[in-house]
Amino acid sequence: MTDPPLPSGDQPLLRPHVFDGIQEYDQRLPNWWLMTFYIAIAWFVLYWTLYYQGGFFTSDSDRVTAQLQAIHQAKTKELEKLLSTLDNDVLWAWSEDPNIRREGQAIYSRICAACHAPDLSAKLAGAPLPGLPLNDEDWKYGSQPLDIFHMVSKGSPDKTAPVQMPPWESVLSPAEIAKVSAFVLSHHVHRPPPPAQP
Ligand code: HEC
Repeated sequence: MTDPPLPSGDQPLLRPHVFDGIQEYDQRLPNWWLMTFYIAIAWFVLYWTLYYQGGFFTSDSDRVTAQLQAIHQAKTKELEKLLSTLDNDVLWAWSEDPNIRREGQAIYSRICAACHAPDLSAKLAGAPLPGLPLNDEDWKYGSQPLDIFHMVSKGSPDKTAPVQMPPWESVLSPAEIAKVSAFVLSHHVHRPPPPAQP
C-alpha cells in the first residue's frame, strides 16, 4: 500500500503511514491539555517526596497502627484498674447483683453457651458439648472467682491439649469478663477458700 500524500498549508500534518487502513494526524496537543499533564507530573514528584520520603504526613497505615495501639493501651489500663479493685469477694458480690447477672447472662448466651450449654451443664439434649460443666462443684482450674476470671481471659493454660478453651481477652473487655464470671458464680454458693495446706 502506498502512503497518502502530505497536505500543505494550515492543514494538520498527516503522518506518512497507514496501519490497518488507519491514518494518523500529527496534531500539536492543546495547551490546556499539556499544562494539566505537566502539573500532574510536578504534583506527583512533590507528593511522593513529602508524603513518602519527607515524613511530613502520617500515612493511613501509621494512623491505623496508632489507633490500634491506643485501643490496646486503653484496654490494658482498664484491666489494671479493674484488677486493682477486683477480688474474690467483689466477684461474689457481683454474682448477687441482678443487673450484673443479667449482663453476664447476655454475654454467656452469645459466646459461651455454644460450648458450655445454656444451662451450664455442657450437655445439650443429653449429648456432651466441648466445654466443661460450669454448674457442678468440680473445677479443673480452681473454684475461686479470680480463677474463673483468669481462665476466661487466658483460655486453657495448656496450649497443646487437643481440647482447649480459647482466650476471650481479645474479644471481651475486662469488665465483660468479670460480668460473665459473676454470672457463672451465680450458679454456686459462696464458699470460703479451702485452708492452705501446710
Ligand atoms: C469453643 C468452645 C468454648 C467456648 C465458646 C467457651 N468455652 Fe469455656 N471451656 C471450653 C473447654 C474445652 C474447657 C476445658 C479446657 C481445658 O480442659 O483445658 C473450658 C473450660 C472453662 C472453664 C474452666 C472450668 C473448670 O472446671 O475449671 C471456665 C470457667 C469456662 N470454660 C468458662 C467459659 C466462659 C465464661 C465462656 C464464655 C466467655 C466460655 N467458657 C466459652 C470450651 C469453651
